[in-house]
Amino acid sequence: MRGILLTAVASAALTTPAAAEDFGGFPPGRGQAETFATCTACHSTAIVRQQRQTREGWDEIITWMQDEKGMWQLEPPMRKLILNYLAEHYNPDVPR
Ligand code: HEC
Repeated sequence: MRGILLTAVASAALTTPAAAEDFGGFPPGRGQAETFATCTACHSTAIVRQQRQTREGWDEIITWMQDEKGMWQLEPPMRKLILNYLAEHYNPDVPR
């Protein structure tokens, strides 16, 4: 199960990066499509893109979405993929 998921994630990363405009402004990178699909189920990417957080901060936000906003649980590899994506593209060192 875990192996299948990781394989799917790995092969998705090998495909041509999609343009940011196809993903609500989320820049190309590993986890782009998964983060878009997960985080736009309830709101636009703007609410995410305006934030700058450390990895720990994003981890807390995901938990908050789950505890308070009704977001579903994520398989650990999926959570890690999304967390890595958010921490890489929306950390405090990235200009707004
Ligand atoms: C099940 C629905 C749901 C999902 C899925 C969801 N959110 Fe949210 N999120 C909300 C709601 C509801 C709010 C409050 C929006 C508002 O202010 O009206 C919110 C607000 C936010 C905020 C703004 C916090 C603030 O007020 O400054 C951030 C950042 C955020 N979400 C990040 C995320 C990220 C990242 C994901 C994907 C990992 C995600 N959300 C997925 C429901 C969701």
